[in-house]
Amino acid sequence: MDTPLDRSDFPVTGHWNYLNHAGTAPPSGPAVEAMHRCAVESSEGASVAFPAHDTRAEEIRAAMARLMGVPTGDVAFVKNTTEGLGFVANGLTWAPGDRVVVPDLEFPSTLYPWLALRDQGVVVDLVPTSGPGRTLPVDAYARVVAAGPAPRVVAASWVQFGRGWRTDLPALAQVCADAGALLCADIIQGLGVVPADLDAWGVDFAMADAHKWLLGPLGVGVLYVRGSVLDRLRPLEPGWASVAHREDWDNRELVWAAGARRLEGGSANVTGIHAMGASVDLLLATGVDRVWAHVSALCERMREGLAAGGVTVLSDGSAAGRSGIVTFSVDGVDPVLLSAALRAEGIVCAPRAGGVRASPHGYNTTDDIDALLAAVAAVTRS
Ligand SMILES: Cc1ncc(COP(=O)(O)O)c(C=O)c1O
Repeated sequence: MDTPLDRSDFPVTGHWNYLNHAGTAPPSGPAVEAMHRCAVESSEGASVAFPAHDTRAEEIRAAMARLMGVPTGDVAFVKNTTEGLGFVANGLTWAPGDRVVVPDLEFPSTLYPWLALRDQGVVVDLVPTSGPGRTLPVDAYARVVAAGPAPRVVAASWVQFGRGWRTDLPALAQVCADAGALLCADIIQGLGVVPADLDAWGVDFAMADAHKWLLGPLGVGVLYVRGSVLDRLRPLEPGWASVAHREDWDNRELVWAAGARRLEGGSANVTGIHAMGASVDLLLATGVDRVWAHVSALCERMREGLAAGGVTVLSDGSAAGRSGIVTFSVDGVDPVLLSAALRAEGIVCAPRAGGVRASPHGYNTTDDIDALLAAVAAVTRS
């Protein structure tokens, strides 16, 4: 079948029916080539290669900005999502009694930076998720926001890692704006598969790593900081790369670089950035809207097929809340064992949130989904 992303760019297709992009995605072939090229050029020329590598990194910053729908100057490279969250949580200045609102079911890195602020007197209030999909309609946030003093920050993942609920970020941004709160969105489980327009949506901070839906390597990511709130964020790692007078080695002044670059203190993971950029180029050339239409259809096929076979689909399938994640459980079968049984059939999923989580991307086919359905049916029958 025709897939929006070319299967020949994904060597993993020769080895596995890979349905774990919400876990760790296989970097694309072009990403690996870019990484290799960058490493070879560094090995052959080091500082001689650096200017060209830096120029390419700036092109990639612009590509990341396009993908997120934000100005290029508002994007910083970070080592991962967790670092981006830490830069926000610890870069803001807190006073005892300040309030943060976070969902009650989040990936640890989306929750812990806020819990860690409790030692500064920050109050963290949790928004209750509900139902098997662990859904979080914006009304649920609005109720918690309204139940106390105006929060300083509302923090949430765009797409919840376990069962895949997708939060309506524009609507949540409106709730935040009405309350005078900043919105910090962990977008790692959406960026690259769901079209994003963060600036227009009113998001203030967002972060993602390359190793999931961006089809890049581990250990490199991006942080978006809305230009108008940048000055509220204290750079946590000031260094040679954070300043306007970068590479003016004898300058003893501290004049921050314009834009989010001031958050980048030292040498960047250039090979990682180049690899991420190669995959992001694939996504932009294809169009994330096409990828999303395809992944949505694969997930719909999965939900319908699983339900028809008597399997419990835990993920919400509504148009508003669906994502690239479908989590399901089979009565009486441990998800860890079910996941292992699928792996033995060449299908890679992950046990998460009380079920097995499947997360296809733009190069997966309906055959991949049908193979999963057949393998689950075989386990259910046995
Ligand atoms: C929602 C969410 N946030 C953060 C992370 C961790 O990302 P990183 O390793 O880039 O810090 C994950 C990883 O699964 C995640 O699902």
